[in-house]
Formats: sequence, structure tokens, C-alpha cells
Amino acid sequence: DKDGHRHFMAKEIHEQPEVIAHTISRYIDGTSKTINLPNGAFDFAKLDRLTISACGTAYYAGLVAKYWFERWARLPIEIDVASELRYRDVPWTKDGGALFITQSGETADTLSALREARKNGQQIASVVNVPESSIARESDIVFPMAAGPEIGVASTKAFTCQLAALACIAIAAGRQRGTLSAEEESELVSGLLEIPRLVAEALKQSDKIETIARDIAKATGIFYIGRGVSYPMALEGALKLKEISYLHAEGYASGELKHGPIALIDENLPIAVIAPVDAHFEKTVSNMQEVMARDGKALLISCKDGIARAGEKTWANIETPKSHPLLSPIVYAVPIQLLAYFTATTKGTDVDQPRNLAKSVTVE
Ligand code: M6R
Repeated sequence: DKDGHRHFMAKEIHEQPEVIAHTISRYIDGTSKTINLPNGAFDFAKLDRLTISACGTAYYAGLVAKYWFERWARLPIEIDVASELRYRDVPWTKDGGALFITQSGETADTLSALREARKNGQQIASVVNVPESSIARESDIVFPMAAGPEIGVASTKAFTCQLAALACIAIAAGRQRGTLSAEEESELVSGLLEIPRLVAEALKQSDKIETIARDIAKATGIFYIGRGVSYPMALEGALKLKEISYLHAEGYASGELKHGPIALIDENLPIAVIAPVDAHFEKTVSNMQEVMARDGKALLISCKDGIARAGEKTWANIETPKSHPLLSPIVYAVPIQLLAYFTATTKGTDVDQPRNLAKSVTVE
């Protein structure tokens, strides 16, 4: 049942305020403004390293989480896609933990990486949407997310719920390791509690994004750039576009553009710039200006303040609500998803069942 939407993907995009709220309610104690992890979770104070692994969109959720664990918990992170981690000769540490992220819990590469970590004495945790899945069963601890069934092949609500759960886990890790003060924890918890409302707010840009997508659909391709936590979001934005609109898209760290790909820039290759007003804003904007100076079309995705500061001469802007700066990926996921969705509907592709893809990839 698509609940009045044309596609499951649209329905699932619009469910996000609700399912993110459900997910964080599994972790947050609203009165004390603290995070509680399920019983039996890692003792983060004793871990000497955390290895994170997943595939596709779930991997990008892990990449965002790397910034969070490093910042809040000062915990060394190893991260790789499961299909590589599994075949590398990883020098596993003695007190290591391994965290796997998966919507379906059945992704073959992720399951093999989990078994490899287990064989090497790591404690195993997972963030899984399907509680009765293989990966959930083979984990020592399952961190819940409450996205509900995701039907569209493109992961949308599972991604933002993964992020919400991972933010909670990283905050709790920071508290256990003594690297995050009680004030910082309560500030982050307040930031998280605001996210469902901000995501609902971000959804209101839908019509504007549909208009922009009509032009994107005519482009030869699109680049996404971002820095810090917005870098994995650039990768995710590009994946989402490729997957459902078949438009060639690439995600780059903002600073990498000048090391090669800038040579591709012309008026037929728009650049979407993910630029929340955070510690990296000025730098990312200057990367955007390098593109504009070469006749590139820049699409700035930022908050009202960011657009006032840098959006005057851009090709187009998408306004996205301001959140706690490190939590911005959960909100910026929305314009990214809508841009892919409307580019696909403009081109008339099969949004929910894109060619060559399966919802859960059970071969290695
Ligand atoms: O079920 P999983 O989360 O393990 O799936 C991982 C990837 O196959 C998945 O995220 C894929 O990249 C999506 N189709 C992206 O939208």
C-alpha cells in the first residue's frame, strides 16, 4: 500500500519524521536527556578499536558514523566496504569490536565480513532493520532501528534511521569513554530530538526540488561535493541518483575536486554542493566558487543563512533546515533523496524496481 503516493520510495521518504522519532525513542531517555544502550552492548571504554563495515548506502551511514565516533568517543575506527574488508588481511586488535550496518540483515558480503571478524576474536554488533535476519542472529548485540519495512530498492528511511541509531551509539560511546561531557551529551540529545521536525520541514521543499530535477534530468551527469560529515552524503547523493535515474553521478570530497575531476566541469555537468553552515562551510563554498569560475552550474544545498551568504550567483539553491552541525546528514538526506526521486520520475525510470538491482543482495 503506497498510502496515496506514486511510489513506495516517495511513501518511505515521507515516513522519515515518524520512523526517525521511533528509532531515537529506543535510545533516548527524554527526562534525563541521556542515551541508554540495550543491555549487553559493547563496553566502549574497553575497546581499542571499532571496525565498521557494510555495503552501499549502509556503508555511507557507517562513514558518517566514523566522524561521530572519532569526535565524540575518540575511538579509532577502521572502516571498509564489506566486499573488501572480508578479503583484506586486517591486523585485528586484541580488544576490538566490529559493527555491521544493514537494512535487510541478509547482504552476503556483510555477513561474510561479520564471520571473518568473529573468527578473529572481535565482539560483534550490528545495526539491523530486520530483527529476525541472519546478521541479527549472528551478532552478539543488535542495536535496533525502527524504520519498518522498506520496499523501494533505493534505501531512504532505512538510511536516516541507521544514522539516527549510530548517532545515539556514538554519543553513548563518548560518555562511556569519558570523552563527552554531560553538557555535550544533553546538547546532542536535544539536537537529535529536533531532527524529526527538521526532516518534516525539509520535505516541504519537494516542489522546488522537482523543478530543479527537471533540469538535472537533461544534464550529462552530476557531481556531488561535501566536506566532513557532508562528504559521505555526497557519495550517498551520487549513489541514489545513479541507482534510480541512471544518470551518471559522482560524489567527491570538496577538496579533491581540484585534484582531477574539475577538468570535467562545463555547463552540462551541474555540481550539487552539500554545505550546512558548520566548521567547513567557508572552505566548501570556496570549492564551489572554483567551479563557478569555470562556468560550472552550482546547486547549493544549505540553510537559509548559508544561502544568504553564498547563494547569490549560484545556478540554484535548495534551502534545508539548520540542525546541530554534526547531525546535519540526517536532515540533508531529504533533499538528496528528493533530487534523485524527481530526476527519476522526470526520466520515467522504474523508481521502485530499478533495472539490474535487487533489494537485498544475497550473492558475493
Ligand atoms: O540490506 P543492506 O542494508 O545490507 O543493503 C546494502 C546495500 O545493498 C543497499 O544499501 C544498496 O546500496 C541500496 N539499494 C542503496 O539505495
